[in-house]
Amino acid sequence: NNNILQDSYGRDHNYLRISLVERCNLRCFYCMPAEGVPLTPKVDLMTYEEIYEIAKIFVKNGVTKIRLTGGEPLIRKDFPVILEKLASLPVELSITTNAVIIHKFIEVLKTNGVKNINLSLDTLNKEKYRKITLRDHFDTVFNNLLRLEKEGFNVKINVVLIRGVNDEELLEFIHLTRNLPVSVRFIEFMPFDGNNWDMSKMVSYKEIMETVVSSFEEGSVERLQDASNDTAKNYRIKGYAGSFAVISSVTNPFCDSCNRLRLTADGKLKNCLFSSSESNLLGSLRQGKPIEPVIGKAVLNKVKVRGGMDNLAKLQQPALHSQNRSMSTIGG
Ligand code: GTP
Ligand code: 5AD
Ligand code: SF4
Repeated sequence: NNNILQDSYGRDHNYLRISLVERCNLRCFYCMPAEGVPLTPKVDLMTYEEIYEIAKIFVKNGVTKIRLTGGEPLIRKDFPVILEKLASLPVELSITTNAVIIHKFIEVLKTNGVKNINLSLDTLNKEKYRKITLRDHFDTVFNNLLRLEKEGFNVKINVVLIRGVNDEELLEFIHLTRNLPVSVRFIEFMPFDGNNWDMSKMVSYKEIMETVVSSFEEGSVERLQDASNDTAKNYRIKGYAGSFAVISSVTNPFCDSCNRLRLTADGKLKNCLFSSSESNLLGSLRQGKPIEPVIGKAVLNKVKVRGGMDNLAKLQQPALHSQNRSMSTIGG
């Protein structure tokens, strides 16, 4: 087999998520430990040339979609340069952002063909926003959300539902889609190093759907067709302009159809969101060694389900979480 992006289960990986920075301008507790995370010295992060060199090799081998993540990708000073370099490759470019400063980048995103923006917003309440993120940017983010929609971007809102924190807002978020043509995606809270996850704080796919179905007239919750390799199960309330979805990585993993690889800001390849082993692509590149064999080996080593946490019992072992990075340096 000369397809280096196919793993031993026959999964083809055509989707690369690149984390551009580890830093973030928010402090969401579910993503980053309260004490923060040790940051990689800047000289050990990929430069924009290195990002481009590595991305080019993935594209040559079959990647057709690149998503830029972080930390918060927009705080990287050379973000416009990175975008411009990557836009010269034959790939669909998208971004996942907290949208705090995205109003400064509307033109550069448009010019470089970015159409899909996934925006993290866990609450519609200003006070609660400050409690979750430890920053006071709710109004800015909400205005940016409306602006992005008006400017014609496809916007998905990511809502990590956490019991006792924002689970009461489920229906409010769905009401938002009545007139606003965006997709609101409720994400099952996942365990990472230092995020104090426990199963009881997670709101499950099943529970979300029970609440929604019982709150609307019979027959008004429509199941939509999901995009191929979609992480989300998509729905619409009949007659609403937007839609909603659930990302059920905990109770209903979608690993069978996984097409994703991740490149961290320090140039390590992760073959799964939950994999503890990483392959140092940047190290090889800087030593002048070919990286294709390193990529091929990493892909072949990919485990079937959630980096080995294939059942709920394993998912609940903190010792396994701490082998992985914190979410903030993976980029989701
Ligand atoms: P598109 O499908 O390209 O719109 O994006 P996405 O949903 O993959 O990406 P996004 O960055 O918006 O992530 C939304 C949520 O899905 C986050 O909580 C991610 O951690 C989660 N997610 C994304 N990719 C994977 C994956 O491969 N496996 C798992 N388990 N979760 C994922
Ligand atoms: N569980 C689920 N989703 C998470 N995200 C960050 N941390 C977690 C977690 N522990 C989401 C963010 C962002 C996306 C990339 O990942 O909300 O939208
Ligand atoms: Fe892919 Fe790992 Fe996510 Fe499963 S948990 S969908 S294998 S990245």
